[in-house]
Amino acid sequence: MKAATNENLQSTGNPSMRQQIHRNAVALICLLLLCPAAAASQDVQSLVGECEACHGPGGASVEDDVPSLSGMDADTLLKAMEEFSYYERHCTTTTYRSGDRPKTPLNMCNVASALNDQERRQLAEYFEAR
Ligand code: HEC
Repeated sequence: MKAATNENLQSTGNPSMRQQIHRNAVALICLLLLCPAAAASQDVQSLVGECEACHGPGGASVEDDVPSLSGMDADTLLKAMEEFSYYERHCTTTTYRSGDRPKTPLNMCNVASALNDQERRQLAEYFEAR
């Protein structure tokens, strides 16, 4: 690879075949990196379904011990999820209230640490807009 770079730097004419292959490879890698991002935004709905199983439809909770998420500021939601994921905030173990796993024990540290940064941000923006 190093030899190829030196060779390309020295060549003054049209881009070499190697450079073209290199450019195509970069484009392909970008595509591969962006694909999961595109898939994740479609999946936000299925993540939302998980949250709603405790936080209520649209994040408007009807449970005494589960806070509503709807209308909360996105940055506040995001910060709370980050604190849970890093175990900086105490997690009360609770159970699903609805959905296909009622009464399964779970807490917000489990929930938040299973999400990546992008998913947490998407969820924060989703519930802010409810
Ligand atoms: C098993 C039930 C359950 C599920 C599933 C669940 N939560 Fe929670 N969540 C809670 C409970 C209970 C609390 C409050 C107790 C605590 O702080 O641990 C809470 C607190 C929060 C808070 C802090 C709210 C505040 O007022 O500070 C946020 C943000 C949050 N949840 C987001 C989410 C998101 C986003 C999802 C979906 C990915 C989700 N939760 C899924 C039960 C759940």
